[in-house]
Amino acid sequence: MFRHDILLASLRLILTLNSGNICRSPMGEAVLRDVARKRGLSNIVVDSCGTAAYHAGEEPDDRTISTCKKHKIPIEHSARQIQTSDFTHFTHILAADESNLRNLERVKPKNSTAQICLWGSYLDNKPIADPYYGGMNGFEHVYQQCLALSDAFLDGVVGDNR
Ligand SMILES: *[C@@H]1O[C@H](CO)[C@@H](O)[C@H](O)[C@H]1NC(C)=O
Repeated sequence: MFRHDILLASLRLILTLNSGNICRSPMGEAVLRDVARKRGLSNIVVDSCGTAAYHAGEEPDDRTISTCKKHKIPIEHSARQIQTSDFTHFTHILAADESNLRNLERVKPKNSTAQICLWGSYLDNKPIADPYYGGMNGFEHVYQQCLALSDAFLDGVVGDNR
């Protein structure tokens, strides 16, 4: 127990799941934080950002918000672009798909200390597809993926202590 407390106090996580930070990544942030809280891991810091700035300051997509509400997941986020300090401030940077992963590798500073990987690498190596141009069922699918990936990620980095 004590060992976990120490670990989690220093564990800072970030998700940068999509380019605009309004659909997939705020959903991932909300779901991962909720799953961590339900495991009693209250010291984990979860944030999300985009690789691009074109939605900066915007709230998450209405469909992301309604999907989270449907599953009683608290969500509140203002879109932002990733910044250099994120690469040293956070321990893990999780990308939604290969394209975002490539963008992260391209912008990461030399002194980056974060582990940068595809979120799916903790489970099945599958990308989280962008639901933006589809219907509500796409958002539900993203939610289900985020839920499974949150469990896989927390099992991987803090151990299965449910
Ligand atoms: C990392 O490098 C950037 C410049 O690329 C610098 O602004 C930043 O202060 C450095 N961070 C740390 C923690 O040394």
